[in-house]
Amino acid sequence: MVQSSKAHAELGHDRLTQNIEVDEEDQHDLDSVSQASGDAEVADEDDDGTSTRSQLAVQAVYENGRRYCNDSYFMPNDDAEQTRLNIIHQVFLMLLDGELTKAPVPQGRPCRILDIGTGPGDWAVEMGEKYPDAQVIATDISVFDAGPAVLGLPNVHFQLDDAEAAEWSYQEPFELIHFRGLSGALRNWETVYQQSFKNLRAGGYIEVVESEPDLDAIVFPDLDPNSYYNILASAMKSATTIDNAIDGTPRCHLQPSLLTASGFIDVRNYDITVPLGTWPNNDPRQSTLGKMMLIAFLEGLEAHCLRPLTATGNWTASNVRDICEKVKFEVAASKGATVSVRFVTGRKPMSHAPHRLRHQKKLEALLDGMNLDSSGPSGI
Ligand SMILES: C[S@@+](CC[C@H](N)C(=O)[O-])C[C@H]1O[C@@H](n2cnc3c(N)ncnc32)[C@H](O)[C@@H]1O
Repeated sequence: MVQSSKAHAELGHDRLTQNIEVDEEDQHDLDSVSQASGDAEVADEDDDGTSTRSQLAVQAVYENGRRYCNDSYFMPNDDAEQTRLNIIHQVFLMLLDGELTKAPVPQGRPCRILDIGTGPGDWAVEMGEKYPDAQVIATDISVFDAGPAVLGLPNVHFQLDDAEAAEWSYQEPFELIHFRGLSGALRNWETVYQQSFKNLRAGGYIEVVESEPDLDAIVFPDLDPNSYYNILASAMKSATTIDNAIDGTPRCHLQPSLLTASGFIDVRNYDITVPLGTWPNNDPRQSTLGKMMLIAFLEGLEAHCLRPLTATGNWTASNVRDICEKVKFEVAASKGATVSVRFVTGRKPMSHAPHRLRHQKKLEALLDGMNLDSSGPSGI
């Protein structure tokens, strides 16, 4: 792998950038990560409808001791973040009793599955293992270099791709498009859902899942009104609403109406309340879930808050770390904190034909009322 390290510290910032260039020969060093579409100059489509590119450039940014994939996405992509995502993935497996999705997946016949913002790729790789007839395309703007992608499954393809590109350019449609944990990552969900609709086969499913134990999603019954938690939650709220295109809340993209507005039907919500902490002591399953969620929360709190808060200019990294430590104690001491997890699924209709038929009938009724023949000018 060619790594050109252009590490430079910017004045006044605890920040480094590093260019990683990968040439064609060494592409496997990055687990066959390739950049898709959005960048027409460098991306080519394979016969199977996935994309490859001969050269890609990934710029890692080091800031306040964490590694980020670029200047804008707020979460790091370092080892600590990867571990957190691995734990959350295990929580999901428990919540779904070992299943990977609430959406139906075609069995025993070839199908195409797209995992947007795949992160280290746990979900994509396990889908590829569970459905060997499926081709799984796992995309991200970031590279997690020690994820399960190293397994190199022949039916799981990792690609660098920005889901916020105005037009996606996959050659073949998908049977399932999956998003998990992308709260705060994507701003224009309307466009993303429209692109998903366009890139699904008729009858295909979209699934959007939110698990992140972000401060908004925690219910904290024994919270002291003067808690550090409240201070942090309110600082995060004002720091993160600026860019949000819908209504300023991190989970607004889970509203079913957004999916129906893009044409999806049979939109369903599945809400699960998961304990956060060591407090459940009567039920072994709840107790394990609570502990795993707590570990993920403790690991992720700084990751969630550091970049958004320091970017406001009102917080130093050390202030953020300090309050995060205090909040961790408050959450760990809670005797009833929970996190809500939501799955939303929707289906692309089989055909627009009934819709067209209804329009045709309305037109005919209108023309009847006007004593005109719907067959057009020759009938007048
Ligand atoms: C919290 S992680 C979730 C990872 C994975 N879906 C999971 O559940 O483990 C969010 C991921 O979204 C990716 N991401 C952020 N902005 C993106 C974009 N515009 N297009 C594609 N992926 C993006 C990040 O790089 C990160 O890997």
